[in-house]
Amino acid sequence: MNAGWELKLDREQFLARYWQQKPLLIRRAVPGFTPPISSHELAGLAFEEGVEARIIEHCKGDWILNHGPFRQADYQRENPWTLLVQAVDHYADSVAALRQLVDFIPQWRVDDVMVSYAVDGGSVGPHYDNYDVFLLQGEGKRLWRTGQFCDSASPLLPHAELRILSLFESEQEYLLETGDMLYLPPGLAHWGIAQGECTTFSIGFRAPRINDMVSRFVDTLLGDMDTEQFYHDARLEPVTRAGEIRAHDLQRVQSQIEAALDQAAENTWFGELVTEPRYDLLPDDDDLAEARALLRSDGESVMLSSAAKLAWQQDAEGIVVFANGESRHYSCARLDLVIPLCESGELSAAAVGQAVTDSESLALLDYLLEAGCIYVR
Ligand code: SIN
Ligand code: CO
Repeated sequence: MNAGWELKLDREQFLARYWQQKPLLIRRAVPGFTPPISSHELAGLAFEEGVEARIIEHCKGDWILNHGPFRQADYQRENPWTLLVQAVDHYADSVAALRQLVDFIPQWRVDDVMVSYAVDGGSVGPHYDNYDVFLLQGEGKRLWRTGQFCDSASPLLPHAELRILSLFESEQEYLLETGDMLYLPPGLAHWGIAQGECTTFSIGFRAPRINDMVSRFVDTLLGDMDTEQFYHDARLEPVTRAGEIRAHDLQRVQSQIEAALDQAAENTWFGELVTEPRYDLLPDDDDLAEARALLRSDGESVMLSSAAKLAWQQDAEGIVVFANGESRHYSCARLDLVIPLCESGELSAAAVGQAVTDSESLALLDYLLEAGCIYVR
């Protein structure tokens, strides 16, 4: 999975000054970069059922959206257009390798690598995204304009699916050539227009919505809570105004809720949430049985699936391993398998040979197979 590319970036300075704050242009960010997938291959990928692909065409001030799968005829258009293919890293290991450029940011923050191809003048219009993105220029050139910071109150053009800004205040322009990169923080308006045919690789991040975090946290808490606990008000202040709910009463409510929140024993909901896969990845029973048998035979190595979401956290008893939205507890010794898998995406035949002789290691590999996180080869 390692293509040997290197990102020319002062990581500490970037995280302190730019990440989630302001855009950064990195010229020749990836020296010697050659696009890992051609526009031709991308167009072919978008023919396939199950691949999430869109075409956006700009026609007389109007933006027209088409969803894939596409056919060759879809690529013959009168007006400037862009093909966008989501999660190309799931289908091409060479594209998945781009994720290693950003391995100084927690892996569970990465969403996918989207690849776009545009004809001359092709654009998806001025918009903002809710997530951070590194835009790495593949073939050709693209002119990027950045503008104002936006939020859910920013006015949009009327369109059922596209979120195109009705107002774009252009502030900066960057002409990107192959190997140049532009980092954009969430909420920043941007507009990329192809100069000639071009491809762009977008390493996109994910961040859970706060309302989803609250909902998961509360669900876990309610699952564990003693339902026979009640509001209590010892040393009550005497009533002075009939019928009143007083500030004192509300303070009690607040502190009793805070005490209840502190009782939350499990904090695995977060890892489960952020490792939820984009698409269903569960293997079918036959594939699983075959993989299990292979795992136990000699000389097989294990690979992390390109689409896998794998993470772990340490707690008082050991580690919790999150795999595609599931979680299981293991001893800290199993970091011998988990860290190499997260780091290099594989376990050598020697490591697998040793793992299958240990019951906990074997249980961990079985779990990762069942979750569709790894495959044997
Ligand atoms: C593109 O690659 O054309 C669009 C990417 C984006 O602006 O999010
Ligand atoms: Co965007």
